[in-house]
Amino acid sequence: MTLDPRLAKSSPAVALAEDGLFLADVWDGLAGTPKTLPAKYFYDSAGSALFEEITVLPEYYPTRTELGILDDRGPEIAALLPAGAALVEFGSGSTAKLRRLLRHLPGLSAYVPVDVSEAFLHAQAETLRADFPDLSVQPVAADFTRSFALPPSLSEGARAGFFPGSTIGNFEPGEATRLLDVFGRILGEGATLIIGVDLVKDRDVLEAAYDDAAGVTAAFNLNLLHRINRDLGGAIDPDSFAHRALFNAEASRIEMHLVSRQAQTIRVGGRSFAFAEGESIHTENSYKYTLEGFRALAARAGWAPVTAWTDPNGLFSVHALRRAR
Ligand code: SAH
Ligand code: AVI
Repeated sequence: MTLDPRLAKSSPAVALAEDGLFLADVWDGLAGTPKTLPAKYFYDSAGSALFEEITVLPEYYPTRTELGILDDRGPEIAALLPAGAALVEFGSGSTAKLRRLLRHLPGLSAYVPVDVSEAFLHAQAETLRADFPDLSVQPVAADFTRSFALPPSLSEGARAGFFPGSTIGNFEPGEATRLLDVFGRILGEGATLIIGVDLVKDRDVLEAAYDDAAGVTAAFNLNLLHRINRDLGGAIDPDSFAHRALFNAEASRIEMHLVSRQAQTIRVGGRSFAFAEGESIHTENSYKYTLEGFRALAARAGWAPVTAWTDPNGLFSVHALRRAR
């Protein structure tokens, strides 16, 4: 795969083009009915730091539950990865989950964290190198929904994938299928993918996880408006929007919205967008799956189930999948 030229950040002209992409996506989303914004824009440095705060909230069960599964199943997971493989992590964030697996993976030839939050990615890669000097850490700053290349220095040997956190749930099922197929093409025939997937559960547990008492998730959602103001010279009053999270049981997804507290017109990059009081911007979906439902989705993308593990309370799952040959 080749790198989309708009993703390369080596020159100011290219950086400008990337801002153009952000602006175009914001304009598109706010001009639509209903209004939407792509969730990937949550993750600038401030957004990544807020996400890390979310992961330790008492209400946000996914991170600690998945970490528990990785701790319990580390040796079994390691046994599924070929010796000497390069491990590619999609949406690596803090790399906390990789750190839990590392002690079981002494033969890893390289670790390739891929993330759109560029400054955060490079800071995490530096810390990882300092903590694990023998590990070859080769970060790739890219939007994995677009065309991107693995580092050319990566050897031709076996590759395995790691996609924890249930980030796959932030994509529409059709997009999720397409993404898993792209990952399969990148990793190659016969590759193993270890992927974390959040499970369907009671509405109360789900809604609390996305609307915590301390207001951190609200700040994470509202950071999107702060980021538009910061990066695109927007003139939005973030206090004029409220965070809302609800479980849409029919679609099996948590929806996050920013709801306008008043009738207002906001301006971004020279264009105006009118809001009625109570009108929302749909900012994120977080799909929740059954084990069977996720296996069927993965199968449509060319991934066969090897095994899946859950915690004792059935809150979260980690699947091992194998790419068809
Ligand atoms: N894997 C970590 C982080 C999950 S948060 C964990 O399990 O805790 C989701 C991560 O995916 C963030 O670090 C975000 O920056 C990254 N991300 C979201 N959309 C992305 C995209 N389109 N391309 C690359 N990275 C993306
Ligand atoms: C990254 N992703 C899986 C998180 C989730 O749970 O959907 C993002 C998030 N949004 C609000 N809280 C956490």
